[in-house]
Amino acid sequence: MQTRTDEIADGIYRLSTFVPEVTPDGFTFNQFLIKAGEPLLFHTGPRAMFASVSQAVSKIIPLADLRWITFGHVESDECGSMNQWLAAAPRALVAHGGVGVMVSLNDLCDRPPRALADGEVLDLGGKRVRHIDTPHVPHNWEARVLFEETTRTLLCGDLFTHAGNGPAVTEKDIVGPAKAGEEIFRATCYTPSTGPTLRKLAELEPATLALMHGSSFRGDGAKALRDLAGFYEGMLRGA
Ligand SMILES: [Fe+2]
Ligand SMILES: [Fe+2]
Repeated sequence: MQTRTDEIADGIYRLSTFVPEVTPDGFTFNQFLIKAGEPLLFHTGPRAMFASVSQAVSKIIPLADLRWITFGHVESDECGSMNQWLAAAPRALVAHGGVGVMVSLNDLCDRPPRALADGEVLDLGGKRVRHIDTPHVPHNWEARVLFEETTRTLLCGDLFTHAGNGPAVTEKDIVGPAKAGEEIFRATCYTPSTGPTLRKLAELEPATLALMHGSSFRGDGAKALRDLAGFYEGMLRGA
C-alpha cells in the first residue's frame, strides 16, 4: 500500500492511496492535510491505512504537531484510525459538528472531542476552516464539510465520488464521473434537502473541490455543485 502526496492548493496536501480491488477501475482514498500553525487533517483513513498515511503526513509535519483531526462523517474510511492519530499526536483533538459528537464521537474517541457549531470558524494560524453541517448530504445524519477560507478550498468528503486513479487535480468535468460513481455505489441520500444543501455550498464559490474519492477539481466549483444538485434533484423526482 502506497500513499502519494500532492499539494493541491497553497499549504493543502492530498494524501492518496489507490486500492485496485474496489471497482474495475480501482478507487482512491484521499486524506487532506492543512499545513498551518495548528495543522489539521481531514479524513483519517481506515485503520489498515494508518501506517502508510501517517508516514506520508510525517514527511510534511512532525506527527506530534497535528492539532485537529476532522472528517466528513462517521464511517471507517473517514475516521477508522482516529484513535491511532490521537495516540500519535498528544495535542490533537477530534473536532466535529454537534450531532456527530453527541451521537457517536463522545463514545468512540479516546479523548473528548470538540463540538463545533454550524458556521463556526477554526483559526488555524495562517489558514481558517469553516465547519458547515450538511445532514444526510451525501449521507449520514452527522455529515458535514469544511471550507478553507484563505484558499477557497471546499473539503467535500464523499461528494463527487468517482472511481479510477486520475490526476491529483483536474480542471476537467467531475460531474460526469460523479454520476457514473453514483451508478456504482448508490451512496447518496436523495431527499428534499439534498439539492438545496448543495446549492447553498455553491454560494461559497469554491476555487478548489477536495474530494475524498477521485481527483480534486480546480475551476468553477459553484457550477459543479449546482450541476450535481440538479442531478440529484432529477434522481429524487424520478424515484
Ligand atoms: Fe461516506
Ligand atoms: Fe468516503
